[in-house]
Amino acid sequence: MYGFTGFGGGSYAEYTCMPEAESMRGILAIKPANMSYEEAAAIPYGAILAMHFLAKGDIQSGQRVLVYGASGAIGTTAVQLAKSLGAEVTGVCSTANLDLVKSLGADKVIDYTREDSVDGGERYDFVLDAVGKRKSSKLKLQCQDALTPTGKYVSVDGGMPKARTEYLVRLKEMIEAGQFRAVIDRCYPLEQMVEAHRYVDQGHKKGNVVITVDRPAREVGELR
Ligand SMILES: NC(=O)c1ccc[n+]([C@@H]2O[C@H](COP(=O)([O-])OP(=O)(O)OC[C@H]3O[C@@H](n4cnc5c(N)ncnc54)[C@H](OP(=O)(O)O)[C@@H]3O)[C@@H](O)[C@H]2O)c1
Repeated sequence: MYGFTGFGGGSYAEYTCMPEAESMRGILAIKPANMSYEEAAAIPYGAILAMHFLAKGDIQSGQRVLVYGASGAIGTTAVQLAKSLGAEVTGVCSTANLDLVKSLGADKVIDYTREDSVDGGERYDFVLDAVGKRKSSKLKLQCQDALTPTGKYVSVDGGMPKARTEYLVRLKEMIEAGQFRAVIDRCYPLEQMVEAHRYVDQGHKKGNVVITVDRPAREVGELR
């Protein structure tokens, strides 16, 4: 199984007990067969947010979509999902992440550390701010106006999404069809939780950071 226990944070317990059915305590679905547990654990947080906020755009094939902050947990997911909907996707990130964002399928990339405006006055049908109100740049302010007359600008800070099991089921299908991949920056063992937080708190992780928990040999044996 893979799943999501909500946006409330937690205690980093090694075990948690959840109902099988969708509830306030979270969601569960069958893990994609072609993914490691680390990859499967990395996906739900960004995917639930990206799916929820992209749905606000009702994106149609051929439309122009810009993802501001395309290299984070939500952004790396949003780029791949918008491409799967047939959109022409522009991803905004810093210099170090341009290749990563292109590799996720972005048709164009813009470096917010070097550019203050979108190319040649381009207009978008949907702009997703995937990094939220705490992170900005001159380019981000400019993106808010780079919309077609019916275009929409949505921020990931615009409300709290409901986690839906159907999101995980849809992702499993996409992953098994080779249409979606997890982006993992680093994995830290549970014992290095403080270092993991220090790294994430710098605000520049690429995709996701995963915590690994060693299972006792007794349990691994039981699972075989
Ligand atoms: N609505 C909700 O319920 C909800 C829940 C959770 C989170 N959120 C919001 O979602 C935000 C993003 O979460 P996340 O986990 O996806 O973030 P994240 O993975 O920590 O984002 C890291 C990425 O942000 C990029 N970044 C940093 N400063 C930037 C800037 N000025 N312009 C563009 N990109 C920048 C970094 O790229 P570079 O290294 O290339 O700069 C890095 O790849 C949170 O900060 C929060 O505001 C909302």
